[in-house]
Amino acid sequence: MNFTNLRGILTYVPEFRDKIFVIAMDGAVVTHENFANLALDLAVLRSLSVRVIVVHGVGHQMRELAVERSVPLSSSDGTGPTDAASLKVSLTASCQVAQQILAAFGAADLRAALPNALVVHPFGIVGGVNYLLTGRIERVDAAFLHDLLDRGIVPIISPIGSDREGNLFRVNSDAVAVAIAETLRAVKLIYLSGEIDYAKETDLARQLSVSEAESFVHRHANTTSPLLLSKLSHSIAACRSGVRRIHLLDIRIDEALLSELFSQVGVGTMVYAEGYESIRKAQKKDVRSILQLISQSVDAAELLPRTRQNILARLGDYYVLEIDRGLVGCVALHRFPEFSQAEVACLSVARVYENQGLGRKLVHFAHSVAREEGIRQLFALSARTYNFFTQKVGFREGTPDDLPPSRRLLYEQSGRRSKVLLKQVF
Ligand SMILES: CC(C)(COP(=O)(O)OP(=O)(O)OC[C@H]1O[C@@H](n2cnc3c(N)ncnc32)[C@H](O)[C@@H]1OP(=O)(O)O)[C@@H](O)C(=O)NCCC(=O)NCCS
Repeated sequence: MNFTNLRGILTYVPEFRDKIFVIAMDGAVVTHENFANLALDLAVLRSLSVRVIVVHGVGHQMRELAVERSVPLSSSDGTGPTDAASLKVSLTASCQVAQQILAAFGAADLRAALPNALVVHPFGIVGGVNYLLTGRIERVDAAFLHDLLDRGIVPIISPIGSDREGNLFRVNSDAVAVAIAETLRAVKLIYLSGEIDYAKETDLARQLSVSEAESFVHRHANTTSPLLLSKLSHSIAACRSGVRRIHLLDIRIDEALLSELFSQVGVGTMVYAEGYESIRKAQKKDVRSILQLISQSVDAAELLPRTRQNILARLGDYYVLEIDRGLVGCVALHRFPEFSQAEVACLSVARVYENQGLGRKLVHFAHSVAREEGIRQLFALSARTYNFFTQKVGFREGTPDDLPPSRRLLYEQSGRRSKVLLKQVF
């Protein structure tokens, strides 16, 4: 076992605990040899208290059955009209896929169930085309799904739903995944497929904001695979309805799910919502989140340990950065007014939000507060992150003599021998 990997995974626990992830898998995924490992990876997520919901597709199995039975399909993905014969094929395919998922989950010690959680209406007649037995989702039974999740059961959702009279309709699984992620306020939606050739998509960035994804879909509407276009279009819809991150993964890559979620680099394509971020003064209710945020950096000796009392005693010095009301960064500005100096301290950004410019934003924010208050010089003490200060936010190296006397005394007593970094405010 690789203990470093395990430690790496455990750092994400506070971030992911009790959050809902919707895993949407195309029918082809269950036929791949990596599927058994995927079930184990989902068991890892469950053991970290992630609440997992699975949505599956049936297109691959429908196409195979259609050939076997010589039945022409009116639509295999639930976006075109579904005639009675195609619905029948989709029902057989759905049973087959669901049973394969239940069996693999059982082997991975995952409890799962097939709930009737979708209320579906006929798609109707659009542009003169009668969509017959194709449905559109009217409602997701959120209470039922929460009930299962509370009991540690993974709901498996098929791309078939019924109306209140018990009539069955075929729905597109990518759209089902969006409806579920939206209704249950999932933090992640993960599309797994086995038939998209991502290597061919040289124009597709590894990380796209929702507007970049829109521009890609617009530019490549006629040139790229319909499967990829469907994933991207539904990712955009999911982002627009509040899901922050959507990942597109290929089952043919070993350990794709865990590598994507638990490594900085990732192996798939991510579409992310452009978040509303704001920096504000810290309040008493934030102290717990600040302690949680900095704990990993304290363990890595990047930050000095602080207690709840330390922070509360100087709460007015702390600022927090929120994205969509979640605390993801902090910085403190400890003033030494008699020397017109202030220390930039306790700078921290949640691991999953690193390298998006937030660290710089926090330092610039501290800089502008200092300027408004007439402080002439900022300093920071860093034993491990000094390059960030000198290379990214314009500090230069100084000496302990540059510190205010009371801070210098503490510096010498600490024995940390951090580098002293300085920046003129004006
Ligand atoms: C240091 C920290 C605040 C940076 O936050 P961030 O949001 O990732 O920073 P930004 O996105 O604004 O900047 C990222 C850039 O800084 C670089 N960077 C990050 N840490 C660095 C370091 N220790 N040395 C040099 N460069 C570093 C990144 O490589 C990236 O470079 P690029 O823009 O050229 O790609 C964050 O990594 C963190 O919380 N670290 C742990 C706590 C810590 O060390 N705090 C400082 C204590 S004094």
